[in-house]
Amino acid sequence: MTSSPSPADLYCVMGNPVAHSRSPAIHARFAELTGQPVHYERRLIPLGGFAQGVRDFLAEGGRGCNITVPFKFEAPALAAVCSERVHLAGAANTLNFQVDGSIHADNTDGLGLVADITRNAGVGLKGARVLLVGAGGAAAGVLGPLLHAGARHITIANRTVAKAEALVASHSALAALQKAELLALTPQALEGNFDVIINATASSLSGEAVPIPASVLRPGSLAYDMMYGPAAQGFMDWASAHGAVPRDGLGMLVEQAAEAFAIWRGVRPPSAQVLEEMRQTA
Ligand code: ATR
Repeated sequence: MTSSPSPADLYCVMGNPVAHSRSPAIHARFAELTGQPVHYERRLIPLGGFAQGVRDFLAEGGRGCNITVPFKFEAPALAAVCSERVHLAGAANTLNFQVDGSIHADNTDGLGLVADITRNAGVGLKGARVLLVGAGGAAAGVLGPLLHAGARHITIANRTVAKAEALVASHSALAALQKAELLALTPQALEGNFDVIINATASSLSGEAVPIPASVLRPGSLAYDMMYGPAAQGFMDWASAHGAVPRDGLGMLVEQAAEAFAIWRGVRPPSAQVLEEMRQTA
């Protein structure tokens, strides 16, 4: 008697828009390389229909999902359990459905950024002076993991300084615990240079110039844009022109997916290999 293969466990990414998402390709490759029976889809969720979308996916037997724009901030409210990262960021990108139907929420964006900087780029964050540019959702999602990774000093520079100040306030207890210094500034008030500069603004999307002075760069500093593809190019060219080492956010994308895969499956996929493959086929 032949046994048929067991059906794959169902996962998806929910967003609006979602057609551009590279997560299905990344998770398909992770599943292939680890031998995990995972089927991962895209779900276009109508604006205003996020909670229903999650309920429908649960009812279909889904095991978990990633959440992308614009639903990351709505996701924590659906979860019975939120990780410390979700509490700090106020947003979740990974939902893990439990056997009793309850939902656990996590945010793997910052873990992905830290993994890409430290493991793939080989740049240490322990004791580092970091400049985080921007204070929206993207910045909020990575600040906690940057503190946990041992950055000694983090300056948050934002056009609207009140938003940077709010991030400093919400992370002050963790900063004290990690013996790290946190500062909020306007871009005009920035002084001195940094080991790692992270662009978490949306300025490149509107085709505008990099919103910080080049004096923040020194030869050899890592200049990281959380975007990838054409959206990251302006920032990377600017960084190279001033002697810094540019890096786009493709590795962050792959590593945040790897963290989600590990949460769902208990297996760590070979993310560096998948990143390398994606760079070669780009
Ligand atoms: P996301 O969730 O991607 O972080 P967001 O919450 O809209 O999106 O935040 C966008 C960030 O990019 C903010 O820090 C924003 O600055 P403000 O808080 O002052 O709005 C920043 N940003 C967007 N366009 C910008 C520009 N042209 N120059 C400088 N900063 C910009």
